[in-house]
Amino acid sequence: MARPFYVTTPIYYVNARPHLGHAYTTICADVIKRYHRMVTDDAFLLTGTDEHGDKIVRAAKKENTTPRAYVDKISALFRELWPQLNISYDHFIRTTDPDHMGVVQGILQKIYDQGDIYFSEYEGQYCFGCERFYTERELVDGKCPDHDTKPETIKESNYFFKMSNYQQWLIDHINAHPTMIRPERYKNEVLAFLREPLDDLCISRPKSRIKWGITLPFDEDYVTYVWFDALINYISAVGYPDGERFKKYWPVVQHIVAKDILKPHGIYWPIMLKAAGLPLYTHLNVHGYWNIDHGKMSKSLGNVVEPLQMKTIYGLDAFRFFLMREMVFGLDAGFSETALVQRINSDLANDLGNLFSRVVTMAHKYFKGIVPESDAAVEKQLALGLDVASGRAVAGYMQEMEVFAFHKALAAVWELISRMNKIIDVTAPWELAKNKACQAQLQAVIYNLLEGLRVISGLIYPVMPDTAATMHRHLGGNPDEPFYKIDYVKVWKRLMPGTQLPKSVTLFPRVELKNEPAPPDEPPKGDASPAPLKPEITIDDFARVDLRVAVVLKAEAIARAKKLLKLEVDLGEATPRTLVAGIAGSYTPEALVGKQVIVVANLKPAKLMGVLSKGMLLAADGGSGSIVLAPDQPAAPGARIR
Ligand code: ME8
Repeated sequence: MARPFYVTTPIYYVNARPHLGHAYTTICADVIKRYHRMVTDDAFLLTGTDEHGDKIVRAAKKENTTPRAYVDKISALFRELWPQLNISYDHFIRTTDPDHMGVVQGILQKIYDQGDIYFSEYEGQYCFGCERFYTERELVDGKCPDHDTKPETIKESNYFFKMSNYQQWLIDHINAHPTMIRPERYKNEVLAFLREPLDDLCISRPKSRIKWGITLPFDEDYVTYVWFDALINYISAVGYPDGERFKKYWPVVQHIVAKDILKPHGIYWPIMLKAAGLPLYTHLNVHGYWNIDHGKMSKSLGNVVEPLQMKTIYGLDAFRFFLMREMVFGLDAGFSETALVQRINSDLANDLGNLFSRVVTMAHKYFKGIVPESDAAVEKQLALGLDVASGRAVAGYMQEMEVFAFHKALAAVWELISRMNKIIDVTAPWELAKNKACQAQLQAVIYNLLEGLRVISGLIYPVMPDTAATMHRHLGGNPDEPFYKIDYVKVWKRLMPGTQLPKSVTLFPRVELKNEPAPPDEPPKGDASPAPLKPEITIDDFARVDLRVAVVLKAEAIARAKKLLKLEVDLGEATPRTLVAGIAGSYTPEALVGKQVIVVANLKPAKLMGVLSKGMLLAADGGSGSIVLAPDQPAAPGARIR
């Protein structure tokens, strides 16, 4: 019988449009669901949106609309995006769904009735951004660690959930189930947190302050704290308490989240489940953050990566592949278009794409596109060993997929690809083809390579479903065949001799990095005549430009950008800034380090060759290049220029 499998993503806040981070988690869920459909039949993927709370009310106000209209609009953006990224979810939950709201109230009532919720007055430090109270211990320099703002002191009566009652139970449970939270570093983080006394959780907000939420079943004047409401989606979506789906899927559920929401999932949720008398999830799979230029993606910095834009420029499968291959699940990773292009060109166009087109083209050239027969004795004599290599790839791939190590699972497939590319180089089929006596060898080599491609087409299916289907079709497969099912994939020599292959296709064209943009501050070489004056401006116009002194801390070349240098400069701010300057023709990176320069500090950030430049360095046009401007005497970093 097919084994059930249930995977969830976080339900995303609807206070912002979906971006790369949301897409990554949801693609991980889709990949793991597709993988489980390969090995069992019955996989279920849940995603959705988190729609209550103050954050949402404020976002709606900003757009001059009602919370209801606002959540409908943004939730639809998420729901409509996922199919465009080939994410096949089975249910999309919204916390404003009436069924969900009923389940939250039912659980609250149950926990209240058994005495795990109490009413008390509380004065604490409240962060409106996080919508929660912070203890002194959790604050960093008296500020919210996420928002870097001072929380406000709020005194009010509220309902509290006795989490402290369950602290020792949770520690024991995690120790008894060492892979429940994985990778291990996150289990250790939760256990470290549990070494300190656990505060009870404030699970209500007075309606005098927030109305947009689920009313407490035992007190009309309060709504439920958003996290208590949101976490319950994982059971309400599958029909808790007696739905068939709930009975089938809940015992095998696995969650995927990023490290930002480890605490609610690693601490609140297991305790809520225990208090509600429910079994816990089997695994909490925690991944790291996608960063841009070593920093967070944020709307205000203008560096948010739009998944659909990446799909349009680079192709969906290439984008999905990059995300799965580049990030080590559990650790942070840096996103850049340069890295994406490098992966496309090396792993996809070169390794896989070339292998595929070479093999299929040779099958056409030497056998009129008909899959040749291969003799076992000849294979042995040639020591191709692709049956063993393929078996190893399948086993390694499965082992890594089971533990969400997507990058390693793909590396196992790429080992097979590289082995096959080597076989072509070593056996040189074009030489065998010249010699009639080597016909059996040529048949064996081409058959085994085609068969290897068949295995690869199945293994890449979860990550690149479209490419997998194209490969399958071009290997003469029937579109309705479940070519990606593991029992089908792993049987060596399934490809039938005599099958007619369609003509080869290019799976992944090589990608050129977009044209290097004209650097803003590089004069045309050899042109010494002064440029014509620009139209007059007022002193007020000039006052809008914030010029500052900065010191260059680091300088480096930018791959494939001959004219640009990437600089890290100290502007007297908490952290250094990254600038891109078009002066590589005039300065080496070493010549700039330690130099004082003048920077336009309030220039809107712009991306140049994939690097986000936050400001612009000033330089004069020299006859043969640029001359960087500097103060006459050393000045403090950040000093204003008037
Ligand atoms: O926290 N890198 O919603 P949210 C990787 N509603 N993943 C990222 C990311 C990044 N830079 N940015 C966001 C909430 N994510 C709650 C969840 S669940 C019961 C309630 C992904 O919209 C990642 O999965 O802030 C992260 O955990 C999630 O978006 C946070 O989404």
